Amino acid sequence: MLERVVCARGWVQRVRDRGATKTLRKEGEKDNGEWGDNEMVRIHAVSRYKEGRKTLGPSTLPLNSFKMVAVLVTGANRGIGLGLVRQLVKEPSVDIVIATARDVGKAVDLKAIDSPKLHLLKLEIVDEKSIAVAEKKFAGIVGDNGLDILINNAGIFNKARLNEQFSKDLVMEQLEVNTVAPLMITNKFYGLLKKAADKKGSAQVANISSMAGSIDFAPVMASHPTPTAIYAMSKTALNMLTVKLSLEWKQDNIRATCFCPGWVKTDMGGDNAMLTLDESTVPLTKLILSLTEDHNGKYFRYDGEKIAW
Ligand SMILES: NC(=O)c1ccc[n+]([C@@H]2O[C@H](COP(=O)([O-])OP(=O)(O)OC[C@H]3O[C@@H](n4cnc5c(N)ncnc54)[C@H](OP(=O)(O)O)[C@@H]3O)[C@@H](O)[C@H]2O)c1
Repeated sequence: MLERVVCARGWVQRVRDRGATKTLRKEGEKDNGEWGDNEMVRIHAVSRYKEGRKTLGPSTLPLNSFKMVAVLVTGANRGIGLGLVRQLVKEPSVDIVIATARDVGKAVDLKAIDSPKLHLLKLEIVDEKSIAVAEKKFAGIVGDNGLDILINNAGIFNKARLNEQFSKDLVMEQLEVNTVAPLMITNKFYGLLKKAADKKGSAQVANISSMAGSIDFAPVMASHPTPTAIYAMSKTALNMLTVKLSLEWKQDNIRATCFCPGWVKTDMGGDNAMLTLDESTVPLTKLILSLTEDHNGKYFRYDGEKIAW
């Protein structure tokens, strides 16, 4: 049997069942030879995602090939989300990376990532219809395997001092993007997270919060020249959502953990930030992929150090 599956960015995968011949190449390129058994299993695994399990009998696959990890990252067209996607596609344990952006057409840096694991989805995180459409499309890609890791990364930083004039809209927008949207997305993806947890033992929600959301840390942040109060409120509430998820979904084996990525050189973090994108997202990706029950309902820096609430 010969399979042909077109993946993200024009890659073509061909799998010959039970034989040793398989190729992973760009469309139009010549076949480039033999692959080892491990690669073959991985190609099979991805093919099975795409083709809805009709390709191979279970007997041809070792058990661990069923532990296929699918990750969704919001706000992946720039900044930390983009950095996380760049790292995730390199991880051997990750099979599918679904990167979302408000405008996929303009997500130039995201589209430049050359990986057959990568799928791009449109998602405006404050729009319930957009979330529903993205969930349906996601389900179409992963099928019965569900969503293993949901990374709620997209966020904004609205700045105003508490003694300045500011509008209610500014505050509501901050809360809508950083707190309400992760809540609505996580709620909508519950079924897919549960599918992955039922099948593979656990699933994970990773909320990208900030040290600014720590009440213990607020006196330290007070000396920061940038006004953080409204942003900080949104992240403190996101932290509470994380704790509530970790308790309410514990019996479903869906965990929730929140993270500070550090002060990172992005559009939000600015040029004076302490960390490059890689300095934050390389360890943060490893940390998210290594989470266990011990991390459930907790708050960590990108390097794994625990943060006080
Ligand atoms: N950078 C830091 O130093 C730092 C520190 C602590 C925490 N964080 C947190 O890390 C996360 C990422 O920050 P960043 O530095 O990468 O910020 P960034 O460079 O400003 O990127 C923000 C991302 O969020 C997306 N986004 C914003 N509103 C959205 C919406 N309504 N729908 C869909 N996507 C939306 C943006 O998409 P568009 O391009 O379409 O706007 C963009 O992809 C945020 O949650 C932030 O609070 C950052």
